[in-house]
Amino acid sequence: MTQWTNDAAIRRWGAMPRVVLETMEQDGDFAKRHLVNPVLLRMLGDVRGRRVLDAGSGNGYLSRMLAERGAQVVGVEPGQALFDFAVEKETEQPRGIRYVQADLCDLPDLGSFDAVVASMVLPAIPDWAPAMRACVSALAPGGLFVFTVNHPCFEQLWPSWREHGEYRTRRYLAEYEIEGPHGVDFHRPLSTYLNELAGLGCRLREIAEPGLDPAVAEVGPEGIDAYVHLPNFLLVAAERG
Ligand SMILES: C[S@@+](CC[C@H](N)C(=O)[O-])C[C@H]1O[C@@H](n2cnc3c(N)ncnc32)[C@H](O)[C@@H]1O
Repeated sequence: MTQWTNDAAIRRWGAMPRVVLETMEQDGDFAKRHLVNPVLLRMLGDVRGRRVLDAGSGNGYLSRMLAERGAQVVGVEPGQALFDFAVEKETEQPRGIRYVQADLCDLPDLGSFDAVVASMVLPAIPDWAPAMRACVSALAPGGLFVFTVNHPCFEQLWPSWREHGEYRTRRYLAEYEIEGPHGVDFHRPLSTYLNELAGLGCRLREIAEPGLDPAVAEVGPEGIDAYVHLPNFLLVAAERG
């Protein structure tokens, strides 16, 4: 595997074309809309008046959704085009979101938060463990940490399903790169994330593996029925000890 640094990975993400940022502006994309966002919002609960850190906020869609639900949001995003886009949206229509351009592994002191959410972010970071540590450290005692990843047991589910009509993989235990069109992710076994979380003294509250409603799959893109049968995402909610 190529030796990736955080900076190199951030540069890749930070060059995301404008048209892609615009497409996902409102609620992410099809999969986030139907599978990630509803569970994420339920796990976070009533965010009114709560301080929430959106760690790796990307184009800021989740920060905007949370601010519209009454949260006081700080979004941290190191990638240039993503950060610029989020700031631009905030300038166009202020929702009280503060954006900070930083690597989570080198986070300035932003005060303490009632909740930290890192959605699809940890797999994007080569040096991911200090990033998870920073997320937990940013929480007030008893605060809620929610993170989401592509389900490590079913990595690249959709392309596999389209090609074979079932899920196939030949590797799970090793770490490997997954080249995406606009960034690189890193597969790690499920135990890697959960054991780090336990080691940070967090108490697991819930793990979710949402499945797609068959009626939604019918109107979705080809092969998306994979998500009815197997979980494409893993969502974890834990409390800081
Ligand atoms: C798949 S995107 C997810 C973005 C957003 N959370 C969402 O759900 O749309 C991965 C994000 O992680 C960010 N990222 C990569 N390395 C990072 C780091 N070291 N610290 C913080 N964010 C990072 C990328 O710039 C990108 O915005």
